[in-house]
Amino acid sequence: MAEVKTKERMQTLLVVEDDPAMLIALRDILENAGYVILTAENGQQALNLLTTSKPELILSDIAMPVMDGFDLLEAVRQRPSGATIPFIFLTARGTREDIFTGKSLGVDDYITKPVTSKELLSAVRARLQRADEFAMMAQLLAAKDSLRVLANAIENKRYHVERVNDYAQVIAAKLGWDDKHRDALEFGAILHDIGQVRIPEVILLKAGPLTEEELTEMRKHPEEGARMIDGIPYLAPAIPIVLHHHERWDGTGYPHRLKGEDIPIEARVLAVADTFDAMTSDRTYRNALDPSIARDEIISQTNHQFDPRMVEAFLNCWHRGEYHELILMNIGKNS
Ligand SMILES: [Fe+2]
Repeated sequence: MAEVKTKERMQTLLVVEDDPAMLIALRDILENAGYVILTAENGQQALNLLTTSKPELILSDIAMPVMDGFDLLEAVRQRPSGATIPFIFLTARGTREDIFTGKSLGVDDYITKPVTSKELLSAVRARLQRADEFAMMAQLLAAKDSLRVLANAIENKRYHVERVNDYAQVIAAKLGWDDKHRDALEFGAILHDIGQVRIPEVILLKAGPLTEEELTEMRKHPEEGARMIDGIPYLAPAIPIVLHHHERWDGTGYPHRLKGEDIPIEARVLAVADTFDAMTSDRTYRNALDPSIARDEIISQTNHQFDPRMVEAFLNCWHRGEYHELILMNIGKNS
């Protein structure tokens, strides 16, 4: 606990709010939690402040004179140093249109007033933690092993990406892929759900079925993930895998509803491996399925969710006992 406190004390947040009483209240709550607070009364003042200060998070109202929160967010995101800074809107306006505008400009979270100090602090902490994880990831991108460890940690599903990679690699071997091809698949497997760091915690950790709206939000993770690794030259081969791992052979998947062989082949392999692991792992809302039931489910999705060639390769590996071996190796790593 002491360590967390020290870290929080060193973190500087910028609060932008035109209502003086609200500004004082927010500053007090956040200062009491150990943060250093910079304040601004409108977007323009905030932008001026950003020329001399580098806060680790911005919490901003939307409706303000001179420059509103949307314009501020847009200006911040255009600055090289502002592309990844966590940005939270705190506002009485909570219409769908506002949320859509905020999201399209790259806001990380949206809190609707009135808000309790507990809600405010938990949103701020969650975003700062995610930003830390992301910054750490950026530093470690050069090393694949480090990347895998980090991807596991970020996903809150330890070993998931390792198992998905294992399951995908046996199919790739069966298909006779060369090392370069299998390497791209490995990066894709490690990073496939990395975009989930952009999905609100409340959706990621929900113990139960998601609502339509939550599903829509969740389904943004492939595009978010592809965007996150865009521009890192040696990860370029992983981008189509990250982007298309939820497409379906019959064209009803997402994000682009690609069909059949229009779906990158690595993404078609990963889809089988990811689904097999999802079914054979415990989830918050159900226990792991028996591997043979998961296998039957994969078979039943031939030509629907999955490429028949991938299912055939999967079954071939299954009959040779390769999956049993991997499952045995992974016992105890069911998280
Ligand atoms: Fe995914």
